[in-house]
Amino acid sequence: MSTTTELKQTQTLGALGAKSAEQVLSLFAELRARFDADAGTATSEVSWKALRDAWLGRKSGVLTLVTDNWLKPSSPELKRVVGASLNELRAHVDAQIEERRVAIESRAQATATAKDRVDLSLPGVIRPIGSHHLIRQVLQEIEDIFFSIGFSIVEGPEIETPYYNFEALNIPEHHPVRDDMDTFYLELPKGVPGPLLLRTHTSPVQIHTMEKRQPPVRVVVPGKVYRRDNPDATHSFMFHQIEGLAVDSDITFCDFTGTIDYFVKQFFGASVKTRFRPSYFPFTEPSVEFDASCIFCGGSGTASAGGVCGKCKGAGWIELFGAGMVDPAVYGFVNYDPKKVSGFAFGIGIDRLAMLKYGIDDIQAFFQNDVRFLRQFP
Ligand code: DAH
Repeated sequence: MSTTTELKQTQTLGALGAKSAEQVLSLFAELRARFDADAGTATSEVSWKALRDAWLGRKSGVLTLVTDNWLKPSSPELKRVVGASLNELRAHVDAQIEERRVAIESRAQATATAKDRVDLSLPGVIRPIGSHHLIRQVLQEIEDIFFSIGFSIVEGPEIETPYYNFEALNIPEHHPVRDDMDTFYLELPKGVPGPLLLRTHTSPVQIHTMEKRQPPVRVVVPGKVYRRDNPDATHSFMFHQIEGLAVDSDITFCDFTGTIDYFVKQFFGASVKTRFRPSYFPFTEPSVEFDASCIFCGGSGTASAGGVCGKCKGAGWIELFGAGMVDPAVYGFVNYDPKKVSGFAFGIGIDRLAMLKYGIDDIQAFFQNDVRFLRQFP
């Protein structure tokens, strides 16, 4: 009688023609081989469940059917071998099914952790945070130098009244020097008291500072200033200054020039020399213009390639900034006693110094935000 392996468990041993222990054993061996083949295909949770139900299912699982159809009705002579073989098969099926379950579960867990794993050795997201603009870098360099010799840093408003920008600095209304500072006046809403203007220099902060503090005063004041200048290689409607002011009971012209010389040497290098020439500012007396020995030709006036140095035009000197001893008239505006105090002031163009130090020939480069320029000063 030919019966397919799959269906043998639904028939009795008698029907299958198994009369000897050997035949029983070979039927069990056949069944075990079938289980092993089935188990090999149980690779997922779904196919594992199907395997378990097919073999261990309570009502119609293979082992239940074998118990019902082979063991229970078996002849007393074969019962022992059938029982022993069934137990052995059951133990094998139980163990294999459990082993499969563990394998499938741990594989699923491994895939899940692999998916969630954070690789700490990866470079991560690097955000482009940029860097300090060259103007800011130079400004800080200048601040640091003055800070190191006892100056503190203060700031003031960019919108000013004519009083602070001009009058209190000894520049009365019809003074011709106002013509040098073509000024942006603000259009104000009706009823707002004016006039107001964008400061043309940082000097008004001298006045604010002296109104608030009594001598000794030693401050530097960085900030933006505005003028109605047409843009070209050396002019911009907005640029940067750092104002300096030192007032005390016994400040001399020597203190003044010594301080400036110290600053210039710190900023450009110890080999750079300074000199001053007479100049004019309404708020200083005497007023000077400070020069540095040309940092491009070393003060020789001759370019390294020969011929006249293009930067100082052969003079050997480069103009740096204006300065002077504070005009006693200014003290009158802030209720300092000009007989008791003296001091000096200076107004450095930050953009100009940055251009000189870093060899930049167009002030516009600072404000165009071209990354090819900015990246050169990381
Ligand atoms: N405020 C002047 C300007 O913007 C620069 C200046 C010159 C400032 C002399 C000073 C000074 O404090 O003493 O042109």
